[in-house]
Amino acid sequence: MGNSLLQKELVDRKIRELRVPDIGKASIREIVALVNMVEEETGFKYVRMEMGVPGLPPAEVGINAEIEALKRGVASIYPMVDGIKPLKEEASRFIKNFMDVEVSPKCCVPTVGSMQGTYAAFMAVGNIDKEKDTTLFIDPGFPVQKQQMMVIGQKYETFDVFNFRGEKLREKLESYLSKGNINSIVYSNPNNPSWICLTEEELQIIGELAVKYNVVVIEDLAYFAMDFRKDLYTPGKPPYQATVAKYTDKYILFISSSKIFSYAGQRCAVMAISDSLFNNEFPDLQERFKSSTFGNTLTLKILYALTSGTCHSAQWALAAMLKAANNGDFNFVDSVKEYGEKAKIMKKIFLENGFNLVYKKDLDEPIADGFYFTVGYPGMTGAELVKNLLYFGISAIGLSETGSNEEGIRACVSFVKRDQFGELEQRLKLFNENFS
Ligand SMILES: Cc1ncc(COP(=O)(O)O)c(C=O)c1O
Repeated sequence: MGNSLLQKELVDRKIRELRVPDIGKASIREIVALVNMVEEETGFKYVRMEMGVPGLPPAEVGINAEIEALKRGVASIYPMVDGIKPLKEEASRFIKNFMDVEVSPKCCVPTVGSMQGTYAAFMAVGNIDKEKDTTLFIDPGFPVQKQQMMVIGQKYETFDVFNFRGEKLREKLESYLSKGNINSIVYSNPNNPSWICLTEEELQIIGELAVKYNVVVIEDLAYFAMDFRKDLYTPGKPPYQATVAKYTDKYILFISSSKIFSYAGQRCAVMAISDSLFNNEFPDLQERFKSSTFGNTLTLKILYALTSGTCHSAQWALAAMLKAANNGDFNFVDSVKEYGEKAKIMKKIFLENGFNLVYKKDLDEPIADGFYFTVGYPGMTGAELVKNLLYFGISAIGLSETGSNEEGIRACVSFVKRDQFGELEQRLKLFNENFS
């Protein structure tokens, strides 16, 4: 490599200080730490694409409701473990309005971010049936969920959906489910990191097989309604956010305030458990947690033990944001469309400088522009690309970290400001001149 933007030795020294064996395979937080160290020593500013931090201001309606709640004194009162009533009711309405799915308020439970929701859910589904000790991830996926499995000490299997789109998904899923050890299927939709959106046909396949093999579907909707190819904001009217809930009655939906309402700092989400699953009794689960139904186990045993509920004032904020969206007063989809617009420009800059898109289609349709996209560079592995881009002032994570078998990186658009596009272009041009 000839003309890197940063001194290679300096970046390498920082990598050694961080004690990460292969920076190309580092976690999000490790890349964050490295870039902070280099920026601190040099004063140089990176184009940062490694972490999915919302780059927009938090929804005003949430802030106001939270301030009011605090002034009313909720800070001194423990919230109910299964959530305050207005939040449960608005969450149920939201699911009806924007997904056309019925989940009772009772079954809509706040969690400390979807992070806590999936942690608790993995624990519950992992103990439903002693014969079924493994969770199946449809990858690529959000790396921290695998870390959750590791921390809990539960088993998982995974496959990259890249070559198994459409009808091919059926056979692939069935090859795992037919073994009889799978308790649940997990995926995010839209997908972090690839931004593929599973089609209605694919969701139907997942739902049908979940019924056939009696497994729970864990549908992570962290980027709810952010498939900007369709306008998904008209309360009570189609088109709706696509969901597996149309095809199975044993599901858990995760709706996070972090990205759709830019409310990540307050760590508040809703876990919506289908009524059928909530009320179901599983003898093995009852034995393990000395509990009754699935819903009561998840809330009154697991969530109670983990945090005894979710921040009281943040629940009021989320209730207010959902209510405003339900009432047609807050078009939350419009407020995050900026991500899609930035992605379109950033993708173009990458493609003009020798890069190629890795995940590029949902069957016949080009993928949407949204919060993330994936790119590769000819002749470079994903790990090499992560490392080489670091010398050119650009940070991202490698796709191998996400369970993908493809070579490339995940680019997150949220933290890159529009006034950095010029720098991004110059750096990628220099990068391409060095490596082409
Ligand atoms: C797919 C996915 N699930 C869950 C989360 C975490 O959500 P929360 O902030 O609500 O914990 C993220 C955040 O990046 C995500 O990308």
